[in-house]
Amino acid sequence: MIYFDKLSDGFILSGKNYSYAIFVNRAGYLQHLYYGKKIGESDLAFLIKTQGEKLSPNPEDINADMLTDCMPSECGFFGRGDFRSATVIAEREDGSVMSSFKYVKHAISGGVARIKGQPCVRKADNTLTITLKDDFSDIEIDLNYSVSDNSDVLIKNTEMRNTGKTCIKLKKAFSFCTNLPDIDKQYSALRLAGSWASERRPVITPLAEGTLRIESTRGYSSHQMNPFMAILADSCTENSGECYGFNLLYSGSFALTTEMTSDKNIRVQGGINDYLFGWELDGGESFITPQTALCYSAEGLGGLSRAYHDFFREYVIDPKRVYERRPIVINNWEATYFNFDNEKLFAIIDEAAKLGIDMFVLDDGWFGKRNDDKSGLGDWFVNNKKLKGGLKPIIDRCKKNGLKFGLWFEPEMISEDSDLYRAHPDWAIKKEGVEPCRGRNQLVLDFTRKEIVDYVFNAVSKVLKENDISYVKWDKNRDITENFSASLLADRQGEFLHRYTLGFYDLAERLISAFPDVFFEGCAGGGGRFDGGALYYFPQIWTSDDTDGLERTKIQWGTSMCYPVSAMSCHVSACPNHQTQRITPFKTRGAIASFGATGYELDLTKLTAEEKEQVKEQIANYKRIDGLVLNGDLFRLANPFETDYFCEMIVAKDKTEAYVVGERFRGDPCDHDRLLKLNGLDENKTYTIKELGVTASGKALMSAGVYYPRLPDCGSWIWHIEKITK
Ligand code: DGJ
Repeated sequence: MIYFDKLSDGFILSGKNYSYAIFVNRAGYLQHLYYGKKIGESDLAFLIKTQGEKLSPNPEDINADMLTDCMPSECGFFGRGDFRSATVIAEREDGSVMSSFKYVKHAISGGVARIKGQPCVRKADNTLTITLKDDFSDIEIDLNYSVSDNSDVLIKNTEMRNTGKTCIKLKKAFSFCTNLPDIDKQYSALRLAGSWASERRPVITPLAEGTLRIESTRGYSSHQMNPFMAILADSCTENSGECYGFNLLYSGSFALTTEMTSDKNIRVQGGINDYLFGWELDGGESFITPQTALCYSAEGLGGLSRAYHDFFREYVIDPKRVYERRPIVINNWEATYFNFDNEKLFAIIDEAAKLGIDMFVLDDGWFGKRNDDKSGLGDWFVNNKKLKGGLKPIIDRCKKNGLKFGLWFEPEMISEDSDLYRAHPDWAIKKEGVEPCRGRNQLVLDFTRKEIVDYVFNAVSKVLKENDISYVKWDKNRDITENFSASLLADRQGEFLHRYTLGFYDLAERLISAFPDVFFEGCAGGGGRFDGGALYYFPQIWTSDDTDGLERTKIQWGTSMCYPVSAMSCHVSACPNHQTQRITPFKTRGAIASFGATGYELDLTKLTAEEKEQVKEQIANYKRIDGLVLNGDLFRLANPFETDYFCEMIVAKDKTEAYVVGERFRGDPCDHDRLLKLNGLDENKTYTIKELGVTASGKALMSAGVYYPRLPDCGSWIWHIEKITK
């Protein structure tokens, strides 16, 4: 719902539980007014009176512009007395960059404008577009705000237009700028930091004067920092208090910043990373920035997460796929690595069929001359030496066993030892005279060049056309280091990383449209590109290369801060774990992997008879709860970063059933009689937990709780909670 009050030039945008208010102040600047609990439209005048006017510059005052420094602006600019970091910097031909963006008009329309060639929300109820014009240049900016009555997420992005005739260079083009509402509150920022095999660990630090900047400069969103930040107010906890989320729907290098001034105003903004960025706009051209999903919760971090989960499922992920039952896969990577042949794969496929697995995914090593990670990337044709008869016998074996077949690609990469590189050494990202960095022995293809994206599209399409393939795992295993393309002019090299990201989007869009029956899973050396942009193309993403039954609780906990459980691809792997060497029970690995799109990643032929029985039980269990994984509400109960336990539950939207998984990491002799409070149930319904022999009201289960089970190290539990019908 978008409300405009002509008298005060104010706007109230409201979603399910929040309102966001802005107004045009007397100097013509677009000022932020309110972000928080839902309020009525009639409150706007009151808000402007109590909050707006006191900061509103008086145009009569000769120094009016200087007041921009303390103005909670919706778009920061440089050179008129606002000394904070700007939202947009537009450099003219003479090198000047000062701007003064003022309101010129607005429009309210139904729906949302799709952004061509970029991920964006698939729908919205209404969009407000406010156009600002620079007093000193020919740049106009559209600030877009999209809202939906049924969502707690507000979508913001910007579009810059050069309305003049001479070239203007954008040196910074962020997607949004906003302000935290209450200077008397103590705010903290949560970010999801990590590394390979340890992605998305929540880190919370208090905000103080100065700038907090989280970013990626790696050419993709990265393992190290997710393009998401939550700001927690005062004593916000998992289940109570106010918090705000900022999630960039972007897979490239990004930046999100908070900046607190000495008068305690906090500006939050972000978008495409401005580090070494530049984008030339000729007269008449425009530049459109990625969308950001802002979210408000008055129910703590848990509420924020659930709102984001609903948002990604309803507005971003492919509607055709999002609630579709996911196949239970067996992936051969950790079973064989590069060392496989027909017989080895046949044995795994035969065993998978006996255990009830749905799909076999052939990972890295099936193409070119790829017997290790030094060669073959780019040669997307079957290694017939390794796989006698090509993919056909493997696919036939799957079919004979009633399994579907999936295949691994790493479309953005090239090995120097490949036919593709020998034919086109200039297709790799590198600069003549500079020895390129190798990551995992490979180089990255220059996806800023359309002919290279076209080539990869055709090569991958050929394999998909010629074989019966139901599923693609799309990997990406290194950062971009030499930001340079010989195809870009010297003064346009700042466009390189964003153009690369657009090339990735282009390929994803084209392949997914050309092969609508193929399910595409994302991956980037584990969970290096787990972001809202990637989720637009990939309904699920390989969460991490760390499949250890303990470490995974932390990775999945952190990932769930904003991404839905169904988007996390989670596999049971071998023991001792290949990444950590830890020994965890088979049951625990299965329980943790059931909180996501589940599968197996080990040599099934090496399992004991007892383990095989457990696989069957795990699959039966998964088929019972996969509806909850796809549709339910997640409640995080025991924080693996703060306690020696992990526990989460998923509750059906209608609260008739729930699924709980927990793990105890380390035994403690004195650690008994601890109570675990459940969450998300209906207080007035009566439930049974069969595994515990408990029947109680939702109120009792959530207020008093149930005892934590006493278990050996890394022991786990699974509970099914069902409503009793009377
Ligand atoms: C990294 C992925 O995360 C793994 O699952 C596997 O596909 C390897 N790459 C293959 O090279």
